[in-house]
Amino acid sequence: MQAAVRRPKRLTGTITPPGDKSISHRAAIFNAIADGEARIDNYGPGADCQSTLRVLRALGTQIDGKGSSFTVHGGILQEPADVLNTGNSGTTTRLMAGVLAGQSFLSVMTGDKSIRSRPMGRIVDPLRLMGAEVDGRSGGKLAPLTFRGGALHGIEYRLPVASAQLKSALLLAGLFADGETVLAQPALSRDHTELMFRAMGAEVIEDGLSVSVKPARLRAVDVSVPADISSAAYWLVAAVCHPDAELTVMGVGTNPTRTGILDVLQAMGADLSVVNERIEGGEQVADLVARSSKLHATEIAGDLIPRLVDEVPVLALAACFAEGTTVIRDASELRVKESDRLQATCKELNRMGAAVEELDDGLRITGGHALTGAACRSYADHRIAMTLGIAGLLAAGETTIAAAETASISYPSFWDDLAGLGDGVKS
Ligand code: S3P
Repeated sequence: MQAAVRRPKRLTGTITPPGDKSISHRAAIFNAIADGEARIDNYGPGADCQSTLRVLRALGTQIDGKGSSFTVHGGILQEPADVLNTGNSGTTTRLMAGVLAGQSFLSVMTGDKSIRSRPMGRIVDPLRLMGAEVDGRSGGKLAPLTFRGGALHGIEYRLPVASAQLKSALLLAGLFADGETVLAQPALSRDHTELMFRAMGAEVIEDGLSVSVKPARLRAVDVSVPADISSAAYWLVAAVCHPDAELTVMGVGTNPTRTGILDVLQAMGADLSVVNERIEGGEQVADLVARSSKLHATEIAGDLIPRLVDEVPVLALAACFAEGTTVIRDASELRVKESDRLQATCKELNRMGAAVEELDDGLRITGGHALTGAACRSYADHRIAMTLGIAGLLAAGETTIAAAETASISYPSFWDDLAGLGDGVKS
């Protein structure tokens, strides 16, 4: 599908993005290995979250109900009859690697072309140290991966990257190990695993950048998933960069390990309010209101990066509308996401007339160069497709995005939500 987008004169509306992708994966996986039954509401509708359900069903988990609300019957997983296919989902692949490493049966896991090119050595190495029999292409660096786990022991391990997927894989394996697993993180990444493990009765201790878990059986817990701040980010950037806009985004998860986007937009001078703050199911939730703003450049680096890792492409777009030069550094992880997001963001925004320079580990963006519609590519990456959709809302003329259906990896209703925002935004 090709999307075609134009800039509306005025951009107003209220949007409720889909359930948080990270929390959804965890709610399904953790309850599948827990004792008891749990109800999950507002589960992420995207293809990635569906990949997790498909893999769990293939491992014998009973999941009753359709759409975004269902019941997971927890228990013991069974040897799958076939290869487990995680599609495009890095979170499914990495979290399930931690689970499979703890099972005594044989399993093989693979995914699409992008998954088969993403680094897996970072999970395979420590899982081997824990005693798991794990292998894969290139000596275990790439999927397909094979597991014959069981008999794990806890380790003390320094994570080479601030990755929540890696941390969560090892915490999951730690549940099945003998003794404690202690991880040292280079910087804090999202802590949904730690919060949910605790709610499910596991002993998780956080001390600065160290996190540890003791072996445990989890207790099933109901989860009502908040809206995804990584999906909300597109609307926030659209509103603050458009000259006549006000958008309200409802029920968004505002866990502080995810709110780097809010901190950066506010530091850039954005008119952004966080209202109706509340706690739902142990996670912070709020409504967000964003309005047209006069932005100035900023620096995005260091410990901030893991708190906004999926928002870098759309923040680079915001920087095109800011006065001055914004520098993004310490973001080389973006090169090994669903696509090389530094390269994709740079190429496509420049195609529209932006002044973006690619750095080894980031981007340098000089604002104030007006964007003009162009024929753009999504690189089969949902976050690039959606960033370009928002760029189209802000550019003169028409922007087309090829293979725009990839947005449905995390946000199937993205193009419909976009079309509902102003007159003639979608042609
Ligand atoms: C995720 C963690 C992030 C993020 C991904 C989801 C998670 O990756 O990019 O979309 O749910 O744990 P890393 O923290 O592994 O870089």
